[in-house]
This record gives sequence, C-alpha cells and structure tokens, in this order.
Amino acid sequence: MPYFRPEIEQMAGYVPGEQPQAGKFIKLNTNENPYPPSPAVGRAIAAVAERGLARYPDPLGTAFRRRAGDVLGVDPDWILCGNGSDDILTIVTRALVGQHQWLRLPYPSYILYKTLAQLQGAGAEEVLFESDWSLSDKFCAARDDLKLVFLPNPNSPSGTMIPPERVLELADRLGCPLLVDEAYVDFAGCSCLSLVAQNEKIMVSRSLSKSYALAGLRFGFLIAQPQMIEQLAKVKDSYNVDALSIAGATAAIDDQSWLAENCAKIIATRQRLAAGMRELGFEAVESQANFVWNTHPELPLKPIFEKLKASRILVRYMDYSAWGDGLRISVGTDDQIDACLGALKSMI
Ligand SMILES: Cc1ncc(COP(=O)(O)O)c(C=O)c1O
Repeated sequence: MPYFRPEIEQMAGYVPGEQPQAGKFIKLNTNENPYPPSPAVGRAIAAVAERGLARYPDPLGTAFRRRAGDVLGVDPDWILCGNGSDDILTIVTRALVGQHQWLRLPYPSYILYKTLAQLQGAGAEEVLFESDWSLSDKFCAARDDLKLVFLPNPNSPSGTMIPPERVLELADRLGCPLLVDEAYVDFAGCSCLSLVAQNEKIMVSRSLSKSYALAGLRFGFLIAQPQMIEQLAKVKDSYNVDALSIAGATAAIDDQSWLAENCAKIIATRQRLAAGMRELGFEAVESQANFVWNTHPELPLKPIFEKLKASRILVRYMDYSAWGDGLRISVGTDDQIDACLGALKSMI
C-alpha cells in the first residue's frame, strides 16, 4: 500500500497474549493478578465518576506523583505517569531513538521492545542472555548510534534478575540511557530504584498492572532525574492518563498493606507452582516475578500448551528462535495452580 511508512509495512506488529472475552478460562497467560485490587480503588474511581468527567484530567497526574513520591521516597518531579508502562516505554523510545539508530535489549525478553524500535525505523540489537540468565559485558559494549538500552528486571519470560550492583556497572559503562523495566519488581527481593539518583542515565519504569491487580485500568510510571522527565514529558500525549485511572492508581499505591499481603500470597503460590512443575519433570526457573518459565528435557511443549487450552487453561507458549521454547505460567490462585498442575499430570 502506498500510504504507509516502509517500516510500518515491513513490521509484523506486536501480538499480545490472548485475551478471550467470552467463555470461562483459567487464565495464566498474561501475568495478571488473580485477586481483586484494593477496595479503595473502586471507591476512588466511583467518587470521580460521581463528580463528573466533563473536564480534562490533570495532564501530569500530580495527585498520583505526590502519593507515589511519598511511598517511594522521591520527589514528584522525578515521576512521569503513563497509560500503562507500555506507554512509558513508547515515550522513552520516541524521545531517544531516531531512524537508523540503535536500541539494545536482552534476548529472550519482552517482545514489545523490538516493535518499538521498528516503529522508529531504528535497529534492535538483541544481546543473548548467558545460559544462567546473567548478562555478559556485551550488554554494555560501545556501539555507534546506540541511543537506548532496555533491561526488564525481573525479566520476562525467565523471572530472573540482574543484581542492582551489576546493573549500575553496566549503566556506568554505557554511553546512552538504560531503562530498567521493573513491571514485576514488587514480587522480587530487590530493585534498582536507588540507582536512579546515582546515574542520570538510569531510569526505572513501574506498572500497576501486575502487583496492584490493575491491568484493566492502564497505569504505569517512570522514575528518572527531573531533567530527564522534563524532556520526556514533551513527547507524551497531552492527557495520557485519564481522571479515573489517576484516582484509581493513587488509591492503589496508597494502600501498601494491601500490596504487601497480595505479594506474599503470590510468592507463596509461586513456590507451589515451581515445586509442582519440578515434580512433573519440568525445569522451572527460580522466579522473582508472578510467573514461572518452564522447559522440559524431553517432552515437546507446544502440544502440552494446546491440550491445556483445550481443557480451558490458558498458559503462554513461547518459542524463541535463538534460544528455545518454554511454557510461561502466571501465578494464579492456589486453586487455579492446582487445577493446572492436575491437568498437566493427567496429560504427560
Ligand atoms: C516486561 C514487561 N514490561 C512492561 C509490561 C507492560 O505492562 P503495562 O500493563 O504496565 O503496560 C509487561 C506486560 O506484560 C511486561 O511483561
């Protein structure tokens, strides 16, 4: 078609995990939280809806930035709100990476990063994880026109983490910004948040989709030094977060006791899932996120994924050409995980 930029015509486009809108599935394929969010979220949204939606929202989501700043110990001007953390990743890529320049990412990791590079007409350089999911110095090697590096930490699909000391070392050696994508960090034992103050090239993105059980609300945010936020804010849509999501997200981040309780439940079920998979002969990677990456020394995994789907249990089958395939199973409730393990046991 003559209308589109060649890079758009040539790219396949990002395909999110299945979101069946009908039928009853045990849904363990897109790392959503199986529990309802803090009850304060619904109340805050209802109050805004009651007051009316005729006016545009606060373009910067100041109420959220203040509350999140208190919780995280940073000033509000270190925070940029986004329509999900995907919006943050888009803003950062658009602001930093131009046509024919380079974006670096580890492989296998979050597939969207490559799509974002393609949208810019930029190259995506994939640096293979080592077999133990660590990263070699290739990840911080100099390269002309390298403008941005993404690091999901914990990583998806593995659930593994690069320790903050190593992240700082990599960032110090890079000539461009490093975005540490902490979408899953609340389920982990450490974070790179404190590195943001140590090196202006380090930025950290967070999501309310996973640990706050708000994937449907669409809210994420970035923590970076204020001079970085100031430039990035020029790139976002004028009203990229709406009034309902600002209110819901502010109430959610305010309820840290809900967060702690929820994460403790997910972490306990994660252990149950990983142990159950190992008992069935799978190799389950030790995870710091709300999912577990499973491979099998002998069995082909695609038919297992398909049989699970036929019994209305959705997990994510991923096949990475330069790495191999696996089943990424999100942590559901104990009952959901027992149902999944039971179904697997009966079929292998
Ligand atoms: C590594 C990673 N980053 C970011 C996201 C996007 O999250 P959000 O719902 O905040 O856009 C996901 C979602 O699956 C993810 O896996």
